[in-house]
Amino acid sequence: MGSEERSSANKTVIIVCLLAAIAGLMFGLDTGVISGAKQFVVKEFGLEGQVGLQGWLVASLTVGAAIGAVLAGWISFRLGRKYSLLLAAVIFVTGSLISAFAPNISVLIFARAFIGLAVGIASYATPLYLAEIAPEKIRGSMISFYQLLITTGLLLAYLSDTYFSYWEAWRWMLGVVVFPAIILFFGVIFVPRSPRWLASKGRNSEALAVLRKIRPSEDEVQGEFGEIQEGLKITQKGWSLFKSNGNFRRSVGLGMLLQIMQQVTGINIILYFAPEIIKMAGFSSVEEQMWGSVLVGLINVLATFIAISVVDKWGRRPILFLGYAIMAFSMAVLAVLMNKVVASDTLSFMHYLSLVMLALFIIGFAMSAGPLAWVLCSEIQPLQGRDFGVTVSTATNWIMNMILTASFLSLIAALGQANTFWFYALLNIICIVLIWFFVPETKGISLEKIEANLMSGKKLRDIGR
Ligand code: BGC
Repeated sequence: MGSEERSSANKTVIIVCLLAAIAGLMFGLDTGVISGAKQFVVKEFGLEGQVGLQGWLVASLTVGAAIGAVLAGWISFRLGRKYSLLLAAVIFVTGSLISAFAPNISVLIFARAFIGLAVGIASYATPLYLAEIAPEKIRGSMISFYQLLITTGLLLAYLSDTYFSYWEAWRWMLGVVVFPAIILFFGVIFVPRSPRWLASKGRNSEALAVLRKIRPSEDEVQGEFGEIQEGLKITQKGWSLFKSNGNFRRSVGLGMLLQIMQQVTGINIILYFAPEIIKMAGFSSVEEQMWGSVLVGLINVLATFIAISVVDKWGRRPILFLGYAIMAFSMAVLAVLMNKVVASDTLSFMHYLSLVMLALFIIGFAMSAGPLAWVLCSEIQPLQGRDFGVTVSTATNWIMNMILTASFLSLIAALGQANTFWFYALLNIICIVLIWFFVPETKGISLEKIEANLMSGKKLRDIGR
């Protein structure tokens, strides 16, 4: 086949992945948008003294997302990845509209939990779909690209919150996300179904037709189709495979570990605490803090490019080691600075240092754990248990997120700010040890080979060789 067909197949893959990954954008938009809206919602509904309700306003989305992620495995097994994304899009559209027009706080909390369902489904189905569509040479970059959209979503949410904050227009903050949700809906209608999912349902000719659209040569189509068929020979699935197969239990455990490790970096604490740290560094007005969040969001996006450009060259493990080391270091320095720096008008070296450490932490996360937890989780599960395995790991991500965000303020009350940051620095160091022992290198190896290695009982660390 000529270079023209090659480049047209590549283009198709890129467009398809772009469309599907708008789901990642929704993930970021919907999780990010509440941070700026919260204070105005509190004002309008008179929730000043009601810390519990305020907490629910923020946490309801993570609760919905945890439930959505649990259901997503079943939904995506029945409907396929494509129609799961379509369902998520419908929920995004209706949920955003309900929240924008919410007459009271209960409806708003309900609407946020409802949107959470879609975030849970999308955070499950998107990486899976991308892993099944992308050729293995660029699989890592494609899924990191999903993280890029999460972070872009967060940034856009911070930007639009900042814009609407001048009018205290929280309904617009929450409602404006309906537009990308509509784009997602129409985008997903046009993407093909996952060839792996089609083959798993015995729809081989459809699977081949999709592969011909997204692979440049008939050799590659046949090669990949053969690998898919091989993978499908294992007939057990999901829960029954989990009960009967120790090797599958290992990959499920690894997926959970990866997502726990992503959350215990403390990323959401840092995102949550960013305005505080910015304030401590001497920028005290609400406006400065809003723009500070925008800056944090921007760094988060830019640093994700580091992962995208090196994940399929350097591999997963080196990036993880580097990223976690950076996060442990910057978290520890922030712990030291916590007690030393107080907000003041004259900015000292310490003030700038805390801002630099904040930025450094986010760079460390965005270049490693952020994208790679999703990349690895979508790669390590055997096909017959992939729905189950990714369900468990995605739900673990949301449950950990919920627990850590909810416990953060109590942790500070019990340990103090500095010790809380020390605690997270230590967790990052423990992660480095865990990566060393358990995390495989999966660069440039087919999903089918990873599966064969896992099932033959190879050590987790070696299943990518
Ligand atoms: C994590 C989220 C986090 C986001 C920040 C995602 O990969 O799962 O918990 O808020 O990255 O960029």
